[in-house]
Amino acid sequence: MKHLADYLKEITSRLKNAGIKDAEKEAEALMCLALNINKSALYCHDFSEIEDDAARTLDTLITRRLAREPFQYIACETEFFGLSLTVGKGVLIPRPETELLVEIITGIIRGKRNPTINILDLCTGSGCIALALAKQFPAATVHAVDISETALRYAAENAAANGINNIVFHHGCLYDPVTAIIFDVIVSNPPYIKTSDIGLLDPEIRLYEPVEALDGGPDGLNFYKKIIDDAHSRLASDGIMAFELGDTLAHSVMEIARAAGYANVTIKHDYSSKERFLIIDG
Ligand SMILES: C[S@@+](CC[C@H](N)C(=O)[O-])C[C@H]1O[C@@H](n2cnc3c(N)ncnc32)[C@H](O)[C@@H]1O
Repeated sequence: MKHLADYLKEITSRLKNAGIKDAEKEAEALMCLALNINKSALYCHDFSEIEDDAARTLDTLITRRLAREPFQYIACETEFFGLSLTVGKGVLIPRPETELLVEIITGIIRGKRNPTINILDLCTGSGCIALALAKQFPAATVHAVDISETALRYAAENAAANGINNIVFHHGCLYDPVTAIIFDVIVSNPPYIKTSDIGLLDPEIRLYEPVEALDGGPDGLNFYKKIIDDAHSRLASDGIMAFELGDTLAHSVMEIARAAGYANVTIKHDYSSKERFLIIDG
């Protein structure tokens, strides 16, 4: 048996040497996963030594993380807006900044709309945005679309596991599966990485996350153009659209929106003061 403190130091230094940021925090998280305990229990004396079985499990987890598999895929779960979501190969891991998009939309809906609205989440992935909005607005109907059947399986499983049943999932390309519906809110966090930048992303992203969740075309704008240009016949006259934006894309997306005839367009910042969201208020 090895002592936990020695183990933690050793794992931290292996992760650090492999170029993994926040190595100490990740070492603790991997240890908690292997021992099936939470962080506060980690330093309790019962766990001051690690049994051989747990040590073997831990070794497997560390090997996966050293190969730069994202921690959330190894753990098979992540938190988003207070929801516990299952994630894994084939679905994008929800990012913290997307929670801010949900907060922004929530504020707008609460301020202006009646609760029995139709919301469309294009490019739903794990379903994170759709689920968070559906939970907060139980009288709303949320339609969630993705082209990936794998992602949709995760999304549907996540809705069921969180007891959320006011979402309709659709398989297909953007508006194709929802042509007959008029929406009060259209939200999307679409693929927005420039094709030529994908090879420059961290290995956790470029080696593991699905490329169809990342690739926004040569200028990163493909999805914004299609979603905004095709919105006219789908968005209610007083409807809103809300997007998460790739780095440096804010002004190009604003131009796309203005060229499509939308005058009331606002850019909002994320927690690191980056221009991250665009809101079109019809
Ligand atoms: C950046 S991920 C966003 C996932 C999720 N909304 C989030 O915020 O974490 C983009 C998603 O778009 C989906 N996608 C790519 N092309 C699509 C298309 N033509 N129509 C619908 N969904 C598409 C991908 O499968 C992926 O799940």
